Amino acid sequence: MSPALEPGALDFFSHSEEQTRRLGKKLGKLAQAGQVIALLGDLGAGKTRLAQGFGVGLGVSADEVINSPTFTLINEYQGRLPFYHVDLYRLSEAVEAETLGLDDYFYGDGVTLIEWANRLGDSLPPEHLEIELHHLDETKRRIVIRAFGAEYIELLERFKKATFGIQ
Ligand SMILES: Nc1ncnc2c1ncn2[C@@H]1O[C@H](COP(=O)(O)OP(=O)(O)OP(=O)(O)O)[C@@H](O)[C@H]1O
Ligand SMILES: [Mg+2]
Repeated sequence: MSPALEPGALDFFSHSEEQTRRLGKKLGKLAQAGQVIALLGDLGAGKTRLAQGFGVGLGVSADEVINSPTFTLINEYQGRLPFYHVDLYRLSEAVEAETLGLDDYFYGDGVTLIEWANRLGDSLPPEHLEIELHHLDETKRRIVIRAFGAEYIELLERFKKATFGIQ
């Protein structure tokens, strides 16, 4: 795995579940209507933990526990914006977002976060924020965030500033 990075991407470590939740929370505070967040990473990488923090950052009430949808692909929550939590793990093969009816979410008023977003292949909206989580050891994760599209470059810049004070 190369540590070399494309310009603008962010590459750092999380050392605990709590840190990963906080990362999600910061992003949730900054997210805006219509944005799409694609989560990549293997089983147990921390995608759902990040999604839980994200929901809190979006203002979803604390007693609504955010878990991956069990019988559906999508759970919907109401925070300061609608929060659409999508988990494509149960899909056995790549599918079109349109077939799943996801386009209505992507181009709606809420924020959509997708676990196993790679299963959408080319039907993931070209502009999005990608967060890749790598399992390094029991509690350590490498997290790489990449922005695709001007709006997401701005989101990532605001996140860097809020988190690391990078101008
Ligand atoms: N730094 C960390 N960040 C996130 N989770 C961590 C970290 N360290 C340990 N964990 C643990 O790893 C697990 C992550 O589970 P989580 O459900 O978030 O993974 P996931 O990527 O959503 O997996 P799945 O693909 O099965 O849905 C939890 O048990 C959590 O406590
Ligand atoms: Mg999960």
